[in-house]
Amino acid sequence: MRDVEYVKRGAGDGAGETACPRASGHYFGGVKLLFIADIVGQPGRRAVKELVPQLRRRHGVSLVVANGENSAGGSGITLNTAQEIFAAGVDIITSGDHLWDQKEVMGLLENERRFVRPLNYPPGTPGQGSALFEAPGLPPVAILNLQGRTFMPSLENPFHAVLAEVQRLRLTTKIIFIDFHAEATSEKVALARMLDGRVSAVVGTHTHVQTADEQIFPGGTAFLCDGGFTGPHESVIGREIEPIIRRFMTNMPQKFEVAKGRVLLQGAVVEIDELTGRAKGIERVSEALPPKP
Ligand SMILES: [Fe+2]
Ligand SMILES: [Fe+2]
Repeated sequence: MRDVEYVKRGAGDGAGETACPRASGHYFGGVKLLFIADIVGQPGRRAVKELVPQLRRRHGVSLVVANGENSAGGSGITLNTAQEIFAAGVDIITSGDHLWDQKEVMGLLENERRFVRPLNYPPGTPGQGSALFEAPGLPPVAILNLQGRTFMPSLENPFHAVLAEVQRLRLTTKIIFIDFHAEATSEKVALARMLDGRVSAVVGTHTHVQTADEQIFPGGTAFLCDGGFTGPHESVIGREIEPIIRRFMTNMPQKFEVAKGRVLLQGAVVEIDELTGRAKGIERVSEALPPKP
């Protein structure tokens, strides 16, 4: 089993924003995590670049986690798109079933400590299923990425994989955030219920449709079944509308271009008690990017 390794951020990193909210006078007695759901293509990256600094200020955010599986042209992630997302103030990037769409991802899997892939790939798969984030004045925060198996490619059982990993991470921190990249609502609710009291929050991704079920379970785990997506919403889950309708009408292959209009940054802000690791609040985010003048 590998040792716990930290992703460290020094003061001054992160798109010119203050790294630690306490250092900037925003102390609130906990950790506030902004999670950004699937960033789709260039419009999604633009939303992150323009909106993350103001969301950081407005919510007094301690760290930002974003799912980047669709950030390169809607399919996968490259070194450049990852750098763009980090430069916008994102601290950790998670992924999902589009992990392998760009071959450059190998560079991220092998070298980038801030990049996390689903934990439940078979042993020997490059990359890491979790990362520990550390910044001045903050307790360590563990970020874990998992992928579901219902209506998705078959991976190792995420329920078993996550129990072992959470047990390992809790030796270091009680503050654990999970991006569960899965299709079926039942799989997401069941996994989050199983982990109630053992992790701070479970937020789902992959469907690109934001759900309205944010809640804190009795044991203190915050939950949102799906965070939605960050990109053009005048679309079918981020792609141009007409080719998708044609595909459903004809069953013939179509080119699915990333759409352009009505760009939203979607996800959630979770507030976590730093002593107990319990969630104190969860709020959905769906922030419009003002159209270009
Ligand atoms: Fe996905
Ligand atoms: Fe996605």
